Amino acid sequence: MILVTGATGHLGTATIEHLLKNTKADKVIALARNEEKATALRDKGVEVRIGDFDDTASLDKAMQGIEKVLLISTIDHNHFQQHKNVVDAARKAGVRHIAYTSISMKDVNTSSIKDFMESHFRTEDYIRESGLAFTLLRNTLYTDVIPWYVGEHVFERGIYFPAGTGTVPFALRSEMGEAAANVLLQDGHENKTYSITGNNLYSFGDIASELSTLSGKTVAYTEANATDYVNQLKQFGVPESFVFLLGGFGADIKDKQFEIVSNDLENLLGRKPASLKEGLKAIYRL
Ligand SMILES: NC(=O)c1ccc[n+]([C@@H]2O[C@H](COP(=O)([O-])OP(=O)(O)OC[C@H]3O[C@@H](n4cnc5c(N)ncnc54)[C@H](OP(=O)(O)O)[C@@H]3O)[C@@H](O)[C@H]2O)c1
Repeated sequence: MILVTGATGHLGTATIEHLLKNTKADKVIALARNEEKATALRDKGVEVRIGDFDDTASLDKAMQGIEKVLLISTIDHNHFQQHKNVVDAARKAGVRHIAYTSISMKDVNTSSIKDFMESHFRTEDYIRESGLAFTLLRNTLYTDVIPWYVGEHVFERGIYFPAGTGTVPFALRSEMGEAAANVLLQDGHENKTYSITGNNLYSFGDIASELSTLSGKTVAYTEANATDYVNQLKQFGVPESFVFLLGGFGADIKDKQFEIVSNDLENLLGRKPASLKEGLKAIYRL
């Protein structure tokens, strides 16, 4: 039995979709915190267990009879404690193998959002020390969240973002879900750490250029000054936590933190991952 947390989120949904293509629905259990959001999963024959990472009793219940867990990270202020609660519940219930969605970056100690990012590495350490078999899926940045960085008026105003010439091996969340599903279904991934990345590095200039080609409109990339960018987001009423993340990711991209290219995703998929152009085409329906 495989339990997927964050099952009503994007990555969890993608993972379960791929699990269901390759195994019976009665082998898959979804952890959700909202009954209503989980209706679509129930309709597919998946057992839904209601639980919250902040509620350890609900996690203890959810882990009964589970052999493998995919722990999808959260972004709450106390996410390390939340992840720890899931690992503890898994261990208590006799789970055999836990996979965790971490982050692929060069040096968390020099990250401009170190406090936020380091919870991934604290979680990794906690899992390694837990005695459970593990697979650490260090995910790069999603192609799917490029619209967050470039804004909704990208085709009218171009891209204004403080990422300099830094590059990222963007990958589609659906393919990361497929890779996670394969890790859960196949043998041989125990005690491995994978960098789940696309095969090529792309700058925001490349994103502008691909969006221009795909849309037939001229999309220019202007490197924003980090302070001006953050102030502008605040003026537009963007929530503080989101400003923090967008500014932080921009700075880390500029610092080349995400410039790690691996063939782990290609190996797990058994094919080349989508290119930036293919990803943007799908996301923007161009
Ligand atoms: N690499 C990247 O570019 C990137 C970008 C964004 C996020 N991320 C990370 O990757 C994770 C998965 O991405 P995603 O796109 O699938 O995010 P998402 O759609 O927001 O899904 C997050 C899931 O976690 C669940 N969750 C949050 N807090 C929880 C709690 N206290 N107890 C139980 N479940 C909880 C949510 O439940 P509900 O459905 O009830 O809300 C949701 O299902 C994110 O949470 C974040 O850590 C990575």
